[in-house]
Amino acid sequence: MGIASWYDEHVVPRIIKLGCGQKGIADRRAQVVPRARGRVFEIGCGGGMNQPLYDPQQVTGFAGIDPSGKLLDYAREQAARKGWQADIRQGFGENIPFADEEFDTVVCTYTLCSVDNNVQVLSELRRILKPGGLFLFLEHGRAPDPGVQRWQERVEPIWKRLMGGCHLTRPITEAVRDAGFSVTPIDQGYMKGMPRIASWMEWGEAVKSD
Ligand SMILES: C[S@@+](CC[C@H](N)C(=O)[O-])C[C@H]1O[C@@H](n2cnc3c(N)ncnc32)[C@H](O)[C@@H]1O
Repeated sequence: MGIASWYDEHVVPRIIKLGCGQKGIADRRAQVVPRARGRVFEIGCGGGMNQPLYDPQQVTGFAGIDPSGKLLDYAREQAARKGWQADIRQGFGENIPFADEEFDTVVCTYTLCSVDNNVQVLSELRRILKPGGLFLFLEHGRAPDPGVQRWQERVEPIWKRLMGGCHLTRPITEAVRDAGFSVTPIDQGYMKGMPRIASWMEWGEAVKSD
């Protein structure tokens, strides 16, 4: 195993676990994840950070995929801790192994930044969501300030290599709308305690637009 793949397999999952476990992020998750109901699918479920926040009174089934074996271990540990039956599989959001219109809620937190093809992933998420179903998202991405945007563009190439393919410049709500969703924003803003290039976040809920 080369140093780059060793870093991706062993170091990146630990960085993600630490970074995504910060208090400010937990506060934002708490505004989003408990809205899930019915049969729920979570993309990039590795790490399992959201599982404690699902309301067992509202969620009737949980499924998720993630490509990272190490992060899936954490997700399975969280499922065991929660004591629920969870269908957690290794896979990529560009080709989700579930049928059309199978889920009442699709949850996507801090994952559209990391996938190879966010347009394809959003199309897949729309496909598996039932008509009238809820798409919940919480993502970081392209900041509204031109000065921050310029730094995001400069830093992104090295950032991507160090952070498991994470992009800094992807639009968030705009991308969700472009994928055929009607969005109700919950909130947006920079998160304190993090560099601005990586802390612009937008979160909201959406349904399929006609
Ligand atoms: C920054 S982490 C966020 C993890 C988790 N969603 C959270 O909110 O803590 C990005 C996640 O996206 C996953 N990921 C990367 N490429 C992916 C893809 N093509 N399809 C699905 N998940 C992917 C990574 O393995 C990782 O678990």
